[in-house]
Amino acid sequence: MNIHFLLNGEWVDLSDIPDTQTLLDWLRESRNLNGTKEGCNEGDCGACTVMVSDAQGTKALNACILLMPQLHGKAVRTVEGISGPDGMLHPVQQAMIENHGSQCGFCTPGFVVSMAVAHLNGDSDHDTVLAGNLCRCTGYAPIIRAARSAADQPVPPWMLHDMETLRGDAGAEAAPALPGSSDALAALLLENPDTTLVGGATDVGLWVTKRLQDITPAAFLHRCADLQQIQSTDHEIRIGAAVTLDRLGAAMQDLHPSFADMIRRYGSAQVRSAATIGGNIANGSPIGDGPPALIALGAVLQLRLGDTRRTLPLEDFFIEYGKQDRGRGEFVEFITIPRQTDRLRCYKLSKRFDQDISAVCGCFNITVEDGMVTSARIAFGGMAGTPKRASHVEAALTGQPWTKETIAAAWPAWGLDYTPMSDMRASASYRSETARNMLTRYYLEDLGGSVSVLEVQP
Ligand SMILES: Cc1cc2nc3c(=O)[nH]c(=O)nc-3n(C[C@H](O)[C@H](O)[C@H](O)COP(=O)(O)OP(=O)(O)OC[C@H]3O[C@@H](n4cnc5c(N)ncnc54)[C@H](O)[C@@H]3O)c2cc1C
Ligand code: FES
Ligand code: FES
Repeated sequence: MNIHFLLNGEWVDLSDIPDTQTLLDWLRESRNLNGTKEGCNEGDCGACTVMVSDAQGTKALNACILLMPQLHGKAVRTVEGISGPDGMLHPVQQAMIENHGSQCGFCTPGFVVSMAVAHLNGDSDHDTVLAGNLCRCTGYAPIIRAARSAADQPVPPWMLHDMETLRGDAGAEAAPALPGSSDALAALLLENPDTTLVGGATDVGLWVTKRLQDITPAAFLHRCADLQQIQSTDHEIRIGAAVTLDRLGAAMQDLHPSFADMIRRYGSAQVRSAATIGGNIANGSPIGDGPPALIALGAVLQLRLGDTRRTLPLEDFFIEYGKQDRGRGEFVEFITIPRQTDRLRCYKLSKRFDQDISAVCGCFNITVEDGMVTSARIAFGGMAGTPKRASHVEAALTGQPWTKETIAAAWPAWGLDYTPMSDMRASASYRSETARNMLTRYYLEDLGGSVSVLEVQP
């Protein structure tokens, strides 16, 4: 495939780039830009963090699971492009020196790039920004001190060049595998229904780097502008399949803040900036964090094959482990959430607070009127082979008084809804018990209790 992008301020035009070429390998092997490090090669450590800009802004992304076709028309800056053209240090680099933010130095380029992106975007939530960067020897306190001390410094002029250059770019013709709209994507899939779709590549990238899987032919969704829109009406919110998790989180902040809080714990900043909600649904994972919340909100999925569209409640999309209701050549176009009074609470249990996959993820949306439960939608990840509603528990609650006694009486219904398994993330009994306890947690939260680990202080 032919691609055209900015690298550290210079245009690069490449032909015959394989669909599976990762940016990390290309930088290190073809450009000798070895500042970008390989740690895990699966999006977990942030050693390979690069800065990527496009019309939507500037993000930190993991180069190890970024496939080169995803860069067409964008700007990339590696750690070598963070300092000024005359070798002048970026304020975050200077601050890392002054605050002793580096020991062995292996993680440092990744940290510096994440910090430079946050500095450019004026993001001062350093703990969240750096949760996807792993440091094994310095410890985080000096690094956070460095990020804080650089925050007041002005953005160096060279950090603003990429956006200006992109705006002035006439744009090079995109390969057919980089469709510019959902119509073009639909046509491509009619012709080649076995094409691998690539949203953010936070799953597909690992098929390439870990399973050494051949994903060709592939089609990349990041140029389908209509799939990247979030549209609100009085009745619903329509979320395009290629909307990234960080944008979804921002959109949910006012509507369903508990969903936004959970998304803030989804992977890392680098993962949320790449991963799309369409990919999070289409992969059919039983432990994906998006589907339980969306199911609890009553979301409806729209699938498209050519010009034929069909809708279905999101919960019906997941048939069994590894099997979804999606035909050959069909793709997820968008998801709609009905507008409603916010009653959603999402509880994610994982071994680490940040950057970890859920052991159990429970999402509750229970309406109470005059002390009675009038409706209940409860959905879980990590409790079955698919994201799944707790329909027996919902039935046991609906029409009953909203009391501790009702919650206790619903206890046996949990066993009818779920028979979870044991794996490395949690035992079956842990899953069963914590899922039940989450309903009590929801009840206590409803009474005004503090239930978040961030709120509960000794
Ligand atoms: C380090 C790391 C941390 C992670 N943490 C979390 C986490 O905390 N919670 C969580 O839920 N997940 C997590 N994930 C998993 C991953 O981020 C999600 O599953 C993600 O949402 C996938 O989206 P994507 O756009 O990257 O999908 P891709 O990798 O691009 O695609 C995934 C699958 O969906 C298909 N697909 C993509 N878009 C469409 C579409 N529009 N229509 C039909 N099929 C489509 C692809 O063909 C592929 O089969 C993590 C992954 C990594 C690497
Ligand atoms: S090498 Fe670890 S995230 Fe890329
Ligand atoms: S300085 Fe050694 S891993 Fe961070």
